[in-house]
Amino acid sequence: MKRSVTVVSAGLRLPSSTRMLADRLADATRRDLERQGAQIDVDVVEVRDHAHDLVSHLTTGYPSDGLRRASETVAKADGLIAVTPTFTASYSGLFKMFFDSLDDTALVGKPVLIAATGGTGRHSLVLEHALRPMFAYLRAVVVPTAVFAATQEWGGGDSQEPLARRIERAADELAGEVRRRESPEIRDPYCDPVPFEQLLEGR
Ligand SMILES: Cc1cc2nc3c(=O)[nH]c(=O)nc-3n(C[C@H](O)[C@H](O)[C@H](O)COP(=O)(O)O)c2cc1C
Repeated sequence: MKRSVTVVSAGLRLPSSTRMLADRLADATRRDLERQGAQIDVDVVEVRDHAHDLVSHLTTGYPSDGLRRASETVAKADGLIAVTPTFTASYSGLFKMFFDSLDDTALVGKPVLIAATGGTGRHSLVLEHALRPMFAYLRAVVVPTAVFAATQEWGGGDSQEPLARRIERAADELAGEVRRRESPEIRDPYCDPVPFEQLLEGR
């Protein structure tokens, strides 16, 4: 069984704690799927690399080649790991813009693990009041465990343990959903074009 997982990470800093969390979640998901005998490909979309293209796409309607490839990587994936920094008690604007730029059916039925980083654990409910409703609207299948990592949890030692447990549990839930679903069928828009006469009639 071959499966693919795409990671969307929207951190701004370099190095990025959002990317660190995304990588930990991807590694745990990979281990879980490999233990079950699956082969897994992991692709990463760093949203900051597409920042200018996102503005151009949303204002003109034309995606760059790089942004189109990133969107396709998300659409064809068997599972998605979506990680944002918390900005002003919500997801970052860039994270939202990336999902605004996707086809509105790209995530239908797709298993998604949601995660966020932030300066304070007091904002961990951003996952429940901002990310989960957004992905529910896009008709994704969001796994029950969402992972928030506050700055203090990157310190090492005992503070890392609860985070490590949440990562394992969320990855296990994502791997379970990915394993038991068929891969998405991606329709080639050029394979079955609308006849020109129909377009002229406005149908
Ligand atoms: C403009 C801005 C707003 C922020 N707002 C919040 C916030 O409301 N709550 C919070 O916990 N952290 C907040 N933070 C902190 C970031 O979420 C945190 O530093 C994040 O982990 C940075 O991710 P990165 O290292 O991947 O860039 C904010 C940071 C910035 C720059």
